[in-house]
Amino acid sequence: MNAPLAPAPVLDVAGDFPILQRPLRGRRLAYLDNGATTQKPASVIRAISDYYEHANANIHRGVHFLSQHATDLYDEARRGVQQFINASRAEEIVFTSGTTQAINLVAYSWGRDNLHPGDEIVLTELEHHSNIVPWQLIAKQTGAVIKVAPVMDSGEIDLEAYHALLSDKTRLVGMVHISNALGVINPVNTMIQAARRVGAAVLVDGAQAVAHQPVDVQALDCDFYVFSAHKLYGPTGMGALYARYDVLNAMGPWQGGGDMIHTVSFQESTYAPVPQRFEAGTPNIAGAVGMHAAIRYVKEIGLDRIAQHETQLLAYATDQLAAVPGLTIIGHHAPRAGIVSFVLDGIHPHDLGTILDAEGVAIRAGHHCAMPLMTRFGIPGTARASLALYNTEADITALIGALDKAQELFGTGHHA
Ligand code: ALA
Repeated sequence: MNAPLAPAPVLDVAGDFPILQRPLRGRRLAYLDNGATTQKPASVIRAISDYYEHANANIHRGVHFLSQHATDLYDEARRGVQQFINASRAEEIVFTSGTTQAINLVAYSWGRDNLHPGDEIVLTELEHHSNIVPWQLIAKQTGAVIKVAPVMDSGEIDLEAYHALLSDKTRLVGMVHISNALGVINPVNTMIQAARRVGAAVLVDGAQAVAHQPVDVQALDCDFYVFSAHKLYGPTGMGALYARYDVLNAMGPWQGGGDMIHTVSFQESTYAPVPQRFEAGTPNIAGAVGMHAAIRYVKEIGLDRIAQHETQLLAYATDQLAAVPGLTIIGHHAPRAGIVSFVLDGIHPHDLGTILDAEGVAIRAGHHCAMPLMTRFGIPGTARASLALYNTEADITALIGALDKAQELFGTGHHA
């Protein structure tokens, strides 16, 4: 077999990530579980600890120096997110605990007021559970109905079927930008335009997209775009909802508490302007600071270079994996970013994940919170290698070597 040549890496930044310097089980760690969460560069870790060492106070409440300083950092973080995804104003950014909370916010607040019996919510078969279950919950309450656009064997959305599902009954279309389970990139521009033609609102789940390619919400022309900080080299428990200003401003509150009100009496309360209306209680201030530091880190390197680096490495990994006997890549023939998902004859993905771990290779195995998609492909789950900007050819070599070891243990592949 002629192994494909490894590309010259565009980036060499593993040194920025303290955890990647730590040997695991006496080996260099090949961390290929970035779809689950990315590692954090020293600059993000430092920004969070600096915040607690030098700036910690509650925001919007105190007249004292630290409270003002913390408020400034929080507001700057919001502007950082705004610029990162090219939202037209900072008020269009609501801080959330992550993608899941952002989708739940939209489902409850927007869904409660805008969905009526017989209205249709169109989702795709590629969705993560977090872009399915909140819609099921609100559909039950409102009488709305969920329709699902199927994927083809290639892993791509069946666009013809998608177009056929859209009608004047469609109130909302929810679509993943890049599938967490297969890495498939949805043709979101085409899908959003079609949804808008029937007057539907559009929510895009960008959890797997923002770290891999530039995102411009104005160019996309979606109503909602959601993502998490922790898949973008930032902290866990932090994320953002972008919502078009007029849509957000028309939405009622979803969680009540401090900071989201204008006035309160026992008879009635009035609510703060957006985005505060959706940020009840003390927010994750350190999380916002950390997310801002992560955005700065990514911007400094440049998303175009990150995309180039990962595209090259993904093509290399895909070629190497396709040459492994008995290995099938799910979603092989679709445009993909950052992720390669596969099954191996005779070895359950969970067993594979365990053997790879013993070889110093971290991947994710299972249904990837996308059970309907696994059902569609008739498999219980996959093994998934997901890339980040610090991965290199050495990680792919470790993966391929570990797969060979697994096949040797199971007596499969060319060891059969
Ligand atoms: N949604 C995350 C993943 O795909 C956790 O692994």
